[in-house]
Amino acid sequence: MTTGKVDLTGVESTMLVTLYLRALDSRAERPVLGDRFAADAVARIDYDWATLDKPAITRNRFMLALRARQFDDWTAGFLRRHPDATVLQLACGLDSRVFRLDLPEGIRWFDVDLPDVIALRRRLYDDAEGYRMLATSVTDEGWLDELPSGGPVLVIAEGLLMYLHEPEVARLLRRLTDRFGSGELLFDGVAPWVARTTQLAKKYLGRWYHYPAYWTATRGPADIVRWNPRLRHRDDVAVLAEYDRIPDPALRRFYRFGNRFAWFANYLRVFRAEF
Ligand SMILES: C[S@@+](CC[C@H](N)C(=O)[O-])C[C@H]1O[C@@H](n2cnc3c(N)ncnc32)[C@H](O)[C@@H]1O
Repeated sequence: MTTGKVDLTGVESTMLVTLYLRALDSRAERPVLGDRFAADAVARIDYDWATLDKPAITRNRFMLALRARQFDDWTAGFLRRHPDATVLQLACGLDSRVFRLDLPEGIRWFDVDLPDVIALRRRLYDDAEGYRMLATSVTDEGWLDELPSGGPVLVIAEGLLMYLHEPEVARLLRRLTDRFGSGELLFDGVAPWVARTTQLAKKYLGRWYHYPAYWTATRGPADIVRWNPRLRHRDDVAVLAEYDRIPDPALRRFYRFGNRFAWFANYLRVFRAEF
Protein backbone atom coordinates (compact mmCIF):
# COMPACT_ATOMS: atom_id res chain seq x y z
CA MET A 1 0.00 0.00 0.00
CA THR A 2 1.39 3.44 -0.89
CA THR A 3 0.81 6.71 0.95
CA GLY A 4 -0.50 8.86 -1.86
CA LYS A 5 1.35 11.92 -3.14
CA VAL A 6 3.63 13.53 -0.56
CA ASP A 7 4.71 17.13 -0.97
CA LEU A 8 6.31 18.48 2.20
CA THR A 9 8.20 21.75 2.34
CA GLY A 10 10.22 23.58 4.99
CA VAL A 11 11.67 21.83 8.00
CA GLU A 12 9.22 18.92 7.63
CA SER A 13 10.79 18.03 4.28
CA THR A 14 14.21 17.43 5.86
CA MET A 15 13.07 14.08 7.22
CA LEU A 16 12.49 12.84 3.67
CA VAL A 17 16.20 13.45 3.07
CA THR A 18 17.33 11.53 6.15
CA LEU A 19 14.88 8.73 5.33
CA TYR A 20 16.13 8.49 1.76
CA LEU A 21 19.77 8.44 2.91
CA ARG A 22 19.08 5.63 5.39
CA ALA A 23 17.38 3.72 2.57
CA LEU A 24 20.47 4.20 0.37
CA ASP A 25 22.74 2.97 3.17
CA SER A 26 20.54 -0.11 3.59
CA ARG A 27 21.11 -0.99 -0.07
CA ALA A 28 24.91 -1.04 0.32
CA GLU A 29 26.57 -4.44 0.42
CA ARG A 30 27.90 -3.77 3.94
CA PRO A 31 25.56 -1.08 5.28
CA VAL A 32 26.50 0.99 8.30
CA LEU A 33 22.98 0.90 9.76
CA GLY A 34 21.02 -1.47 7.49
CA ASP A 35 17.62 0.16 8.13
CA ARG A 36 15.31 -2.02 6.01
CA PHE A 37 12.28 -0.06 7.30
CA ALA A 38 13.65 3.05 5.58
CA ALA A 39 13.93 1.24 2.24
CA ASP A 40 10.41 -0.10 2.67
CA ALA A 41 9.03 3.38 3.54
CA VAL A 42 10.73 4.94 0.50
CA ALA A 43 9.11 2.30 -1.71
CA ARG A 44 5.68 3.09 -0.22
CA ILE A 45 5.83 6.90 -0.28
CA ASP A 46 4.73 8.56 -3.48
CA TYR A 47 7.39 11.26 -3.68
CA ASP A 48 9.74 12.37 -6.43
CA TRP A 49 12.84 10.77 -4.88
CA ALA A 50 14.88 11.70 -7.98
CA THR A 51 15.03 15.27 -6.61
CA LEU A 52 17.21 13.93 -3.78
CA ASP A 53 19.38 11.79 -6.00
CA LYS A 54 22.20 14.35 -6.26
CA PRO A 55 25.80 13.80 -5.16
CA ALA A 56 25.66 16.83 -2.81
CA ILE A 57 22.94 14.96 -0.90
CA THR A 58 23.70 11.27 -1.39
CA ARG A 59 27.36 11.58 -0.37
CA ASN A 60 26.04 12.13 3.19
CA ARG A 61 24.31 8.74 3.34
CA PHE A 62 26.91 7.01 5.50
CA MET A 63 27.44 10.00 7.76
CA LEU A 64 23.71 9.98 8.57
CA ALA A 65 23.80 6.21 9.06
CA LEU A 66 26.76 6.57 11.46
CA ARG A 67 24.83 9.19 13.41
CA ALA A 68 21.75 6.95 13.65
CA ARG A 69 23.90 4.02 14.70
CA GLN A 70 25.45 5.98 17.57
CA PHE A 71 21.95 6.95 18.74
CA ASP A 72 20.86 3.29 18.48
CA ASP A 73 23.85 2.12 20.53
CA TRP A 74 23.28 4.68 23.30
CA THR A 75 19.52 4.00 23.28
CA ALA A 76 20.06 0.24 23.58
CA GLY A 77 22.52 0.81 26.45
CA PHE A 78 20.05 3.05 28.30
CA LEU A 79 17.20 0.55 27.86
CA ARG A 80 19.35 -2.29 29.20
CA ARG A 81 19.99 -0.20 32.35
CA HIS A 82 16.35 1.01 32.57
CA PRO A 83 13.98 -1.61 31.12
CA ASP A 84 10.97 0.26 32.56
CA ALA A 85 11.84 3.66 31.07
CA THR A 86 9.85 6.11 28.99
CA VAL A 87 11.40 7.03 25.66
CA LEU A 88 10.56 10.34 24.09
CA GLN A 89 11.87 10.63 20.56
CA LEU A 90 11.54 14.24 19.42
CA ALA A 91 11.50 15.08 15.70
CA CYS A 92 11.10 11.39 14.87
CA GLY A 93 10.36 11.98 11.18
CA LEU A 94 9.98 8.51 9.68
CA ASP A 95 12.73 7.06 11.81
CA SER A 96 12.24 3.38 12.64
CA ARG A 97 14.33 3.17 15.83
CA VAL A 98 11.35 1.87 17.79
CA PHE A 99 11.16 -1.11 15.38
CA ARG A 100 14.92 -1.52 14.80
CA LEU A 101 15.79 -2.04 18.46
CA ASP A 102 14.92 -4.96 20.62
CA LEU A 103 12.78 -3.21 23.25
CA PRO A 104 12.21 -4.56 26.76
CA GLU A 105 8.49 -5.21 27.37
CA GLY A 106 7.97 -2.45 29.94
CA ILE A 107 9.09 0.41 27.70
CA ARG A 108 6.72 3.24 26.80
CA TRP A 109 7.85 4.91 23.58
CA PHE A 110 6.54 8.23 22.23
CA ASP A 111 7.48 9.49 18.76
CA VAL A 112 6.87 13.23 18.36
CA ASP A 113 6.93 15.45 15.29
CA LEU A 114 5.02 18.24 13.55
CA PRO A 115 1.43 17.44 12.46
CA ASP A 116 2.11 16.95 8.70
CA VAL A 117 4.95 14.54 9.48
CA ILE A 118 2.92 12.54 11.97
CA ALA A 119 0.01 12.41 9.48
CA LEU A 120 2.37 10.79 6.97
CA ARG A 121 3.88 8.53 9.62
CA ARG A 122 0.39 7.31 10.50
CA ARG A 123 -0.11 6.23 6.90
CA LEU A 124 2.87 3.89 7.33
CA TYR A 125 2.75 2.83 10.97
CA ASP A 126 0.12 2.39 13.72
CA ASP A 127 0.10 3.18 17.40
CA ALA A 128 0.46 -0.04 19.42
CA GLU A 129 0.72 -1.26 23.01
CA GLY A 130 3.48 0.85 24.56
CA TYR A 131 3.89 2.97 21.42
CA ARG A 132 2.27 6.31 20.57
CA MET A 133 2.81 9.06 18.04
CA LEU A 134 2.23 12.69 19.02
CA ALA A 135 1.59 15.50 16.54
CA THR A 136 2.89 18.75 17.99
CA SER A 137 5.67 21.26 17.76
CA VAL A 138 8.11 20.56 20.57
CA THR A 139 8.15 24.31 21.19
CA ASP A 140 4.41 24.39 21.96
CA GLU A 141 3.34 24.64 25.58
CA GLY A 142 1.26 21.87 27.05
CA TRP A 143 2.01 18.76 25.00
CA LEU A 144 4.23 17.29 27.71
CA ASP A 145 1.23 17.25 30.07
CA GLU A 146 -0.18 14.36 28.01
CA LEU A 147 2.76 12.15 28.95
CA PRO A 148 3.40 10.18 32.11
CA SER A 149 5.66 12.27 34.34
CA GLY A 150 8.63 10.92 36.29
CA GLY A 151 11.83 9.29 35.18
CA PRO A 152 13.79 7.58 34.07
CA VAL A 153 13.21 9.02 30.63
CA LEU A 154 15.35 8.86 27.53
CA VAL A 155 14.94 11.92 25.35
CA ILE A 156 16.24 11.46 21.80
CA ALA A 157 16.58 14.53 19.61
CA GLU A 158 18.27 13.45 16.37
CA GLY A 159 18.45 16.22 13.78
CA LEU A 160 16.34 18.68 15.77
CA LEU A 161 18.09 21.19 18.03
CA MET A 162 19.95 22.91 15.17
CA TYR A 163 16.60 23.94 13.63
CA LEU A 164 15.48 25.71 16.82
CA HIS A 165 16.69 29.06 18.13
CA GLU A 166 18.81 28.87 21.30
CA PRO A 167 16.13 30.29 23.64
CA GLU A 168 13.72 27.63 22.29
CA VAL A 169 16.32 24.92 22.99
CA ALA A 170 16.83 26.16 26.55
CA ARG A 171 13.05 26.37 27.18
CA LEU A 172 12.45 22.89 25.76
CA LEU A 173 15.23 21.33 27.84
CA ARG A 174 13.99 23.03 30.98
CA ARG A 175 10.45 21.76 30.41
CA LEU A 176 11.80 18.23 29.87
CA THR A 177 13.95 18.14 33.00
CA ASP A 178 11.10 19.68 35.05
CA ARG A 179 8.58 17.13 33.77
CA PHE A 180 10.64 13.97 34.13
CA GLY A 181 13.11 14.67 36.93
CA SER A 182 15.72 12.11 35.83
CA GLY A 183 16.99 10.54 32.67
CA GLU A 184 19.25 11.07 29.68
CA LEU A 185 19.25 13.35 26.67
CA LEU A 186 20.80 12.28 23.37
CA PHE A 187 21.19 14.89 20.66
CA ASP A 188 23.43 15.89 17.78
CA GLY A 189 24.96 19.29 17.28
CA VAL A 190 26.60 21.01 14.34
CA ALA A 191 29.72 23.16 14.59
CA PRO A 192 29.22 26.96 14.54
CA TRP A 193 30.70 27.31 11.04
CA VAL A 194 28.16 24.82 9.71
CA ALA A 195 25.25 26.80 11.17
CA ARG A 196 26.67 30.05 9.83
CA THR A 197 27.11 28.56 6.34
CA THR A 198 23.48 27.46 6.19
CA GLN A 199 22.34 30.92 7.35
CA LEU A 200 24.39 32.60 4.62
CA ALA A 201 23.18 30.08 2.03
CA LYS A 202 19.60 30.79 3.02
CA LYS A 203 20.13 34.54 2.88
CA TYR A 204 22.06 34.81 -0.37
CA LEU A 205 21.27 31.60 -2.25
CA GLY A 206 17.70 31.08 -1.07
CA ARG A 207 16.51 30.51 -4.63
CA TRP A 208 18.61 27.33 -4.80
CA TYR A 209 18.97 26.38 -1.15
CA HIS A 210 15.59 24.93 -0.19
CA TYR A 211 16.24 23.70 3.32
CA PRO A 212 15.89 25.71 6.54
CA ALA A 213 18.96 27.26 8.14
CA TYR A 214 20.48 25.93 11.34
CA TRP A 215 20.14 28.38 14.23
CA THR A 216 21.70 26.53 17.15
CA ALA A 217 25.25 25.26 17.00
CA THR A 218 26.91 23.18 19.70
CA ARG A 219 30.47 24.20 20.51
CA GLY A 220 30.87 21.59 23.22
CA PRO A 221 29.74 20.38 26.66
CA ALA A 222 29.69 23.93 28.13
CA ASP A 223 26.73 24.77 25.87
CA ILE A 224 24.67 21.96 27.38
CA VAL A 225 25.11 23.29 30.90
CA ARG A 226 24.48 26.84 29.73
CA TRP A 227 21.17 25.74 28.17
CA ASN A 228 20.18 23.86 31.31
CA PRO A 229 22.39 23.67 34.44
CA ARG A 230 20.62 20.44 35.50
CA LEU A 231 22.19 18.60 32.57
CA ARG A 232 25.54 16.87 33.10
CA HIS A 233 27.62 16.05 30.04
CA ARG A 234 28.49 12.32 29.93
CA ASP A 235 29.85 11.63 26.47
CA ASP A 236 30.28 13.00 22.99
CA VAL A 237 31.47 11.52 19.75
CA ALA A 238 32.37 13.03 16.38
CA VAL A 239 30.15 11.18 13.92
CA LEU A 240 32.88 11.11 11.27
CA ALA A 241 35.42 9.53 13.64
CA GLU A 242 33.91 6.17 12.65
CA TYR A 243 34.66 6.71 8.94
CA ASP A 244 36.39 3.33 8.63
CA ARG A 245 32.93 1.68 8.78
CA ILE A 246 31.99 3.37 5.49
CA PRO A 247 31.74 0.69 2.82
CA ASP A 248 32.25 2.92 -0.23
CA PRO A 249 36.05 3.18 -0.79
CA ALA A 250 35.97 6.66 -2.40
CA LEU A 251 33.80 8.14 0.36
CA ARG A 252 35.89 6.41 3.03
CA ARG A 253 39.03 8.01 1.57
CA PHE A 254 37.27 11.38 1.42
CA TYR A 255 36.29 11.22 5.10
CA ARG A 256 39.67 9.85 6.16
CA PHE A 257 41.35 12.83 4.52
CA GLY A 258 38.81 15.28 5.98
CA ASN A 259 39.38 13.88 9.46
CA ARG A 260 42.88 15.36 9.50
CA PHE A 261 41.25 18.75 9.98
CA ALA A 262 39.54 19.46 13.30
CA TRP A 263 36.97 21.80 11.73
CA PHE A 264 35.88 19.03 9.34
CA ALA A 265 36.09 16.18 11.85
CA ASN A 266 33.83 18.11 14.26
CA TYR A 267 31.24 19.06 11.66
CA LEU A 268 28.64 16.93 13.45
CA ARG A 269 28.93 15.56 17.00
CA VAL A 270 26.56 13.41 19.02
CA PHE A 271 26.12 14.20 22.73
CA ARG A 272 24.87 12.28 25.75
CA ALA A 273 23.87 14.15 28.91
CA GLU A 274 22.29 13.06 32.18
CA PHE A 275 19.90 14.76 34.57
C1 LIG B 1 16.44 16.28 9.76
S1 LIG B 1 14.82 15.69 10.17
C2 LIG B 1 15.26 14.40 11.28
C3 LIG B 1 14.18 13.34 11.37
C4 LIG B 1 14.59 12.08 12.11
N1 LIG B 1 15.04 12.33 13.45
C5 LIG B 1 15.65 11.36 11.32
O1 LIG B 1 16.81 11.30 11.75
O2 LIG B 1 15.31 10.88 10.24
C6 LIG B 1 14.22 16.98 11.22
C7 LIG B 1 12.86 16.71 11.81
O3 LIG B 1 12.61 17.69 12.82
C8 LIG B 1 11.24 17.95 12.82
N2 LIG B 1 11.03 19.22 13.52
C9 LIG B 1 11.60 20.41 13.24
N3 LIG B 1 11.14 21.35 14.09
C10 LIG B 1 10.27 20.72 14.92
C11 LIG B 1 9.48 21.15 16.01
N4 LIG B 1 9.49 22.43 16.40
N5 LIG B 1 8.70 20.26 16.64
C12 LIG B 1 8.69 18.95 16.25
N6 LIG B 1 9.43 18.48 15.22
C13 LIG B 1 10.19 19.36 14.56
C14 LIG B 1 10.91 18.01 11.33
O4 LIG B 1 9.53 17.94 11.08
C15 LIG B 1 11.69 16.81 10.83
O5 LIG B 1 10.92 15.63 10.89
